[in-house]
Amino acid sequence: MNEVSINIKTRRSIRKYQPVQVEQEKLDSILDAAIHAPSGHNQQPWHFLVVRDNGIIEDLDLRIRKSMAESGISRMVKLGEDPKYRVFFHAPTIVIVSGNEINYDPEGHLIPFADCCAAIQNMLLAAHSLGVGSCWIGLVCYLFQHPERMKDIPIPEGFKPYYAVCLGYPDPALITSCPKRKEGVVDYLR
Ligand SMILES: Cc1cc2nc3c(=O)[nH]c(=O)nc-3n(C[C@H](O)[C@H](O)[C@H](O)COP(=O)(O)O)c2cc1C
Repeated sequence: MNEVSINIKTRRSIRKYQPVQVEQEKLDSILDAAIHAPSGHNQQPWHFLVVRDNGIIEDLDLRIRKSMAESGISRMVKLGEDPKYRVFFHAPTIVIVSGNEINYDPEGHLIPFADCCAAIQNMLLAAHSLGVGSCWIGLVCYLFQHPERMKDIPIPEGFKPYYAVCLGYPDPALITSCPKRKEGVVDYLR
């Protein structure tokens, strides 16, 4: 296996982090990988809001858990009310990824959501190659669904926040093995 394949296959979602900040140089490199993702018509319709302040991350986490607790979805209510649960797993850095939806045109292949997902995957792999752990966070949607809880979060005009990414040094005790991959998902038309 070459280095890229090894990097892809050994990356794991990290859900416990050491209380050590990711160096700015490594963060720059991870964000540089993000902006080198492919995008429809090369629109590069992405924006990355980096949060490295522990107090702000905790506050955002609390807002998300509050919305989860209010959601009425029993699994989410349970997680949202769990005092030990953290949506961002105490990661020292989070990145909120948003897409510019002004030019959204699925027939013209201008689908910022798809472009942003490609950028996120680049971030996860770049982070892993630098020894930095990451986790793609979808539960942050519980914050995005509540505009009143988003007022102090500077997402540029016309952009829609989709996901967040946690970044930080993994707690080695909690690196899980690879979840089993489904087989039989490849067919050939010959
Ligand atoms: C769109 C998307 C949303 C996700 N949201 C979360 C999340 O909110 N919390 C979490 O712990 N993991 C989240 N994950 C991570 C997945 O649970 C994880 O990728 C999957 O279990 C496979 O594990 P692996 O990443 O270690 O291969 C998300 C992944 C994707 C692609």
